[in-house]
Amino acid sequence: MTEKKPTDILEEEHRVIEKVVKAMSILIKKLEMGKDVNIEGLQNIAEFMRVFGDKCHHGKEEKELFPLLGEKGVPMQGCPISALTYEHEMGRKLVKGLAEATVSYEKKSKSAKESLLKQLQGLANLYPNHIWKEDYLLFPMTNKILNDKDQEELGIKFKKVEEEIGPDTHHKYERLAEEIDKKFNQV
Ligand SMILES: [Fe+2]
Ligand SMILES: [Fe+2]
Repeated sequence: MTEKKPTDILEEEHRVIEKVVKAMSILIKKLEMGKDVNIEGLQNIAEFMRVFGDKCHHGKEEKELFPLLGEKGVPMQGCPISALTYEHEMGRKLVKGLAEATVSYEKKSKSAKESLLKQLQGLANLYPNHIWKEDYLLFPMTNKILNDKDQEELGIKFKKVEEEIGPDTHHKYERLAEEIDKKFNQV
């Protein structure tokens, strides 16, 4: 099989998400030092996490990979599947909270900075851990369970997830992650 395995695709997406999580850590430091942060940057981070992080990435995991593993006998309750699904839900709530806190921050509401910090810290704590569990536990386990045919079928389903979101959406948000990386991480 010369084509990328589905888990290779997910790992590559993790590397993109990590760039944005790194930017969150920079923003946390700035906020903790009492500095102002760039509103457009915050909006871009929330939008990236909503579309790329959740729709493109969690979409492939939750709609396709996890159910397939369930069919292959992996328990859907407890560790690892339900724990990872729960973390996706937490991530979704934090991203929603980040978008809301950004709106309040733009309006210069009183507690906006505090709420911004809380959501960013939540995300920056959640994601490295979540990604580690998938890269080092879930994906090796997946490749032990799936045969070549399963891998091929899963790859086709991943392509369908991307098609449903929109043909250029994935690349558009990869470019956005590059911009976020340049803006916050390379100074
Ligand atoms: Fe995940
Ligand atoms: Fe993931």
